[in-house]
Amino acid sequence: MRNFISVQDVNNIDALVEKAIAYKADPLKDRQLGANKRVGLLFLNPSLRTRLSTQVAAQNLGMEAIVFNMDKEGWKLEFTEGAVMNGTSVEHIRDAAPVMGSYFDILCIRTFPSLINKEEDYNEILINELIRYAGIPIVSLESSTLRPLQSFTDIITITEVFKEQRKPKIVLTWAPHIKPIPQCVANSFAQWVNAWDQADFVIANPQGYNLDKKYTAGATIEHDQEKALEGADFVYVKNWSSYEDYGKVLADNKHWMLTNKHLAPSNNAKVMHCLPVRRNVELSDEVLNGTNSLVTRQGANRVWAAQTVLAEILKTHTK
Ligand code: CP
Repeated sequence: MRNFISVQDVNNIDALVEKAIAYKADPLKDRQLGANKRVGLLFLNPSLRTRLSTQVAAQNLGMEAIVFNMDKEGWKLEFTEGAVMNGTSVEHIRDAAPVMGSYFDILCIRTFPSLINKEEDYNEILINELIRYAGIPIVSLESSTLRPLQSFTDIITITEVFKEQRKPKIVLTWAPHIKPIPQCVANSFAQWVNAWDQADFVIANPQGYNLDKKYTAGATIEHDQEKALEGADFVYVKNWSSYEDYGKVLADNKHWMLTNKHLAPSNNAKVMHCLPVRRNVELSDEVLNGTNSLVTRQGANRVWAAQTVLAEILKTHTK
């Protein structure tokens, strides 16, 4: 593995999941692997789980991790080739990326979309320019359109929990929110579950919230949440703003908030959310506090996903 940007960087999802579960059983078994190696964690937006779990993962491998809050402490970056930089941007990515590449062995970055310009967001300029100019492996901690470490974690969690000899039914359901939220978690979850190809996969969302078909092709799209939840083994709850009417919140759809009543037609479904969650807006207290909630396990499993990805890159692609 050279970079970790999407599921397309993974040859065998099940094999990667097994490695993550092995790290969970013995976190320090590769503590020499990252000795004298350094990972840079660049953040352009807030984080709890991603920031802390990746630092813990690096430390478990014996790596030094340096966090840079690029949005608050760095120069404003320019991405346009040939730009006359007489405006607000101070430093071109072409200059910043190779310098950071010289400081680190692996560079991880987390950024958000604008939710204004679909084409720019979906072109993933920042990640692609880093890959082009940094000269070292790049790990996406979240990009404009995808959150691959979260999705890898989610597959690890489902694998740990589901032990029956049949395909689970997994439902990704849209949930209400008070403001426009990126599509990245939903896109990424859909991309990974489809690539994994070991589930009956349904995506439930109100009209106007269909995701990019590039990620959802293979899943059943359902606009009736109650029907979608019938027989579900796992329900993944997430809000996203409209992809079609880009970045918009189309209506409040409060009745889509998941409660125990909504889960009644499911197969005693386990409930997932990547966190942070707005309680009693996206998901009710009764569900989050209930025994079927996997949200804490998902958050904890972020360490093993990050550790596995860093280890795979360390084994093959660092200096
Ligand atoms: N799930 C997740 O990425 O959490 P943070 O936003 O806190 O990093």
